[in-house]
Amino acid sequence: MKTRRAVALVLSAVAGAIAAGLAVAFGVRRRRGMPGAHGEPSVEGDLAALAPVLACVRCGGLLTWDDAATAYACDACARTYPVQGGIVHMIEQQDLTGQNRRFAYLYDRFAWGYALASKVAFAVAGMTEERGRREVLDRLQPRGGRVLDVSTGPGSNLPYLVARPDVGEVHALDISMGQLRHARALVRRRGWRVPLYLANAEALPFRDATFDAVVHVGGINFFDDRARAVAEMARVARPGARVVIVDEKERAARTYDRTIPGFRRSFATERPPVVAPVDLVPRGMEDIRLSDVWRGLFYCLEFVKPG
Ligand SMILES: C[S@@+](CC[C@H](N)C(=O)[O-])C[C@H]1O[C@@H](n2cnc3c(N)ncnc32)[C@H](O)[C@@H]1O
Ligand SMILES: [Zn+2]
Repeated sequence: MKTRRAVALVLSAVAGAIAAGLAVAFGVRRRRGMPGAHGEPSVEGDLAALAPVLACVRCGGLLTWDDAATAYACDACARTYPVQGGIVHMIEQQDLTGQNRRFAYLYDRFAWGYALASKVAFAVAGMTEERGRREVLDRLQPRGGRVLDVSTGPGSNLPYLVARPDVGEVHALDISMGQLRHARALVRRRGWRVPLYLANAEALPFRDATFDAVVHVGGINFFDDRARAVAEMARVARPGARVVIVDEKERAARTYDRTIPGFRRSFATERPPVVAPVDLVPRGMEDIRLSDVWRGLFYCLEFVKPG
């Protein structure tokens, strides 16, 4: 009983902190009149050099960089993928459907407050954001290679990946342009070389076996097709790579129902209860583990691609 009350207390504190964080950030934004768009591209460096990791999301074909068009083009079906403001556009937002569309809209609207709300939520849960994020990111073993951050939001995991001595390069994607603009501002401020993609986790724009580690934090519970997203993360992982997937447990989701504006309305019908996608891990994956993280409010699912 005591434990229940304590959990309820922590959950309402976290929810309160998120709401307060959003309110504070909203106030700051209004006062400063913060613009939605930023200036120069963040994907500095050689866009042509990026082509060998990319694949067409329509047909899986190889992509070639077209300097004149500032776009990648599929060698097989000729579909083009423009780079705009430094962000590689692998989807068109008007093509999104279902919950993916609704959540892209929700995160576009709240992107300005997300980073602060996340920090506050970790603090209320009794840990720094750094400690919380390291608790899950330290499980990756990229061995000097390439890491993919799926659903990066405003780049929340990037500070704890880019600086790691065992990380070679980091690539990050999200379905929300609003979130990606903030990720781009962060990447630019810090002078990092992190390619950013507007892309759907259910159709990753990368060739098979491209990444030495894949991480996803915070979105998969409410994707349209969780099985496809898990299969995609496994597909783009190299043999031997670990995939780490973290999201809230049902108790935490219930708090969101009550406190996050627009969250409940993001579901066409009743919100499905949260179930960690253990049964969706593709056959043949090894070392499958499910554990609690962040004081038991979130689950962490891990597996290794055989190699
Ligand atoms: C709770 S935020 C998590 C952000 C960040 N990973 C973090 O740890 O704070 C969830 C993110 O998932 C993104 N998202 C939702 N549906 C997605 C999809 N189908 N593909 C890729 N990203 C998606 C949202 O835009 C949002 O930025
Ligand atoms: Zn194609």
